[in-house]
Amino acid sequence: MMKKPVWIDSDAGIDDAMALILATKFDSIDIVGVSAVAGNAELTQTFRNVRNILALAGRADIKVYPGAEQPWIIPLETAPDAHGKDGLGGAVIPESDAPAETEHAWDKLYEAACAYPQELTVVAVGPLTNIANTIIKYPKFASLVKEIAIMGGAIIGGNRTPAAEFNILADPHAAQCIFKSGIPVVMFPIDVTHQMRLTKADLEEIGSCGKPWSRPLQEANAYIMPLYERNGHGSVVFMHDSCPVMWLQYPELFEGKLAGVNVETRSGPALGKTISDLYVYADQLPLKNVTIMLKGDTDGMAVKVKELLRS
Ligand code: RIB
Ligand code: CA
Repeated sequence: MMKKPVWIDSDAGIDDAMALILATKFDSIDIVGVSAVAGNAELTQTFRNVRNILALAGRADIKVYPGAEQPWIIPLETAPDAHGKDGLGGAVIPESDAPAETEHAWDKLYEAACAYPQELTVVAVGPLTNIANTIIKYPKFASLVKEIAIMGGAIIGGNRTPAAEFNILADPHAAQCIFKSGIPVVMFPIDVTHQMRLTKADLEEIGSCGKPWSRPLQEANAYIMPLYERNGHGSVVFMHDSCPVMWLQYPELFEGKLAGVNVETRSGPALGKTISDLYVYADQLPLKNVTIMLKGDTDGMAVKVKELLRS
């Protein structure tokens, strides 16, 4: 079976780490490139984290390219409260000995889209600055790439503000560029990622598998769990970024609806809000290019994730 060419863009981060390791386990995809973007932490840190996480998974061969240090217009606001200053909650992982790539993420992502015309799936699990840079710098990119699967947005509520989810809020202008590019988008908002959770027992199970990533994943997730407990979610962690990744190999875990999405880019309490016409009777937004995932198989995802992390 032909493997699906995939590019992953990440602001690694604690949930990004699990998502990246899971992606290396799939026999249905070929990870043709990975890029880092500033978000949960500064770019220097997220670039280092992505490289080290792939090396930890035994895939130091996958090239990682540095991307944007800053969002398009608003200043970078990292999330040390959620991911720690290092972006991985202080989890100790060895340094990758792979050579550090220096070419820009957007240049290499465009090259990949040219190499796999109409076949490349981009999975973006951080702010969308790198993807938007590619769209703007290379006008042909939008017609070459097959689809973009993103962890981002909130149809109802938000997690960084009452209106906005972190990845979209971090760079709302770049996000708007993606939603208006005409590229088919598969969106995993917190409406569905909040259904995909692991318990303390799940993390204990993962931590005791004896794999190089087992304890680091358990340590990293132990850092973020108190944040979720303080916010009334209980003793769980959300597998935000694993959602678009698991969808690559297990699409049956998710159910979605086609809609149009606009991003609020004006400053104010609604900045970064993803506005959709999902629940509007009349067709409001002309461009219905976004499959918004709203339902997920919580138990099915947890079982498959633990199985993959044991392998
Ligand atoms: O809102 C959750 C998203 O923000 C995840 O991608 C997490 O890693 C953070 O970047
Ligand atoms: Ca992320």
